[in-house]
Amino acid sequence: MRVVSGIQPTGNLHLGNYLGAIRNWVRMQDEMEEANRAQAAEGGSAAKKLNECLFFLADLHAISQPHVPAELKAATLEMTAALVACGIDPRRSVLFNQAQVPAHAELQWLLSGTARMGWLGRMTQWKDKAGKNREGQSVALFSYPVLQAADVLLYQATHVPVGEDQKQHLELARDIAQKFNNDFASEDSPVFTLPEPIIPPGAARIMSLRDGTAKMSKSDPSEMSRINLSDDADEIMRKVRKAKTDPEPLPSEAAGLDGRPEALNLVTIYAALAGQSVEAVLGEHGGQGFGAFKPALGELMVEVLAPIATRFNELRHDRESLDAILVRGASKAREWAAPTLSAAYNALGLVRP
Ligand code: TYM
Repeated sequence: MRVVSGIQPTGNLHLGNYLGAIRNWVRMQDEMEEANRAQAAEGGSAAKKLNECLFFLADLHAISQPHVPAELKAATLEMTAALVACGIDPRRSVLFNQAQVPAHAELQWLLSGTARMGWLGRMTQWKDKAGKNREGQSVALFSYPVLQAADVLLYQATHVPVGEDQKQHLELARDIAQKFNNDFASEDSPVFTLPEPIIPPGAARIMSLRDGTAKMSKSDPSEMSRINLSDDADEIMRKVRKAKTDPEPLPSEAAGLDGRPEALNLVTIYAALAGQSVEAVLGEHGGQGFGAFKPALGELMVEVLAPIATRFNELRHDRESLDAILVRGASKAREWAAPTLSAAYNALGLVRP
């Protein structure tokens, strides 16, 4: 198994990123470790480590929209600190930023001959972000999913833990891989592995606290719409208290949440944080008004997020250690990327030194 995933280093890590993706990264990292230990026990010390995780800061993706260079640099280090605070262990997983591994940009170009304009034009993220002003967008915003395909195909990723919003990009990566294999490789030795998206069933889409129909996002101008992993207990309690709701009490069964997006979102968040099903949460809290449920949710959030915030605050100013983590990770990533990149050049008939 090879687990690969990335996050854009723009803005703060928020609860949607954590519950939708990062918590799964940590879980998979720990499972890989277990599997490797079991394999080593079976095969003795000479056994090869077969399961690997690579996680990266998608700083190349971040330039697809207007940005301030000095802020991107700082945000890349901050996001590295946030991932380590969440439990990504740079000794067990390869943690790096794309810009230090030129193979990502190179493979993107090689895949650009295979990706079709029509496929990219159908991406909902492109349509949402470009809105009515398509002509004024950067080429990078349009071809963004080709770079995302390169990110995972470069490492022969088998599993890609992401939130629901990235599913379509992963399907595109599979289409690109399939077409490239069909067009340029033989059936018995494909150049690329088709990656599988891993989406958490209970927390695939965490919504804004101000609007239960919009996803919680770094780009929402309202800070009240999201819980940042760096928020302190008072901020968390205040944001939860002010979260939009409706006047009805919580139902006792999940069907009662139909047509109540804000209530559904808060119950979903509670369930994900507590590791319970929505039904179990409603079994316990059904009939309660939000005056009682919100403080319970806020306290649970503080309990889960406080240790992460403490670690984050310890790490975030240690520039030297964070730089060292990324340099070490990138060196490994460059090594792992090399064989697939060569295979792609060769398959296309391109001669390299
Ligand atoms: P990004 O930086 O927007 O988000 C990082 C991860 O968090 C998930 N996520 C959410 N999950 C549930 N509810 C939400 N409200 C929510 N908001 C964000 C995202 O699904 C994602 O898994 N293009 C990607 C980064 C990327 C990438 C890749 C991911 C670049 N290359 C290769 C996987 C594989 C992005 O912008 O994610």
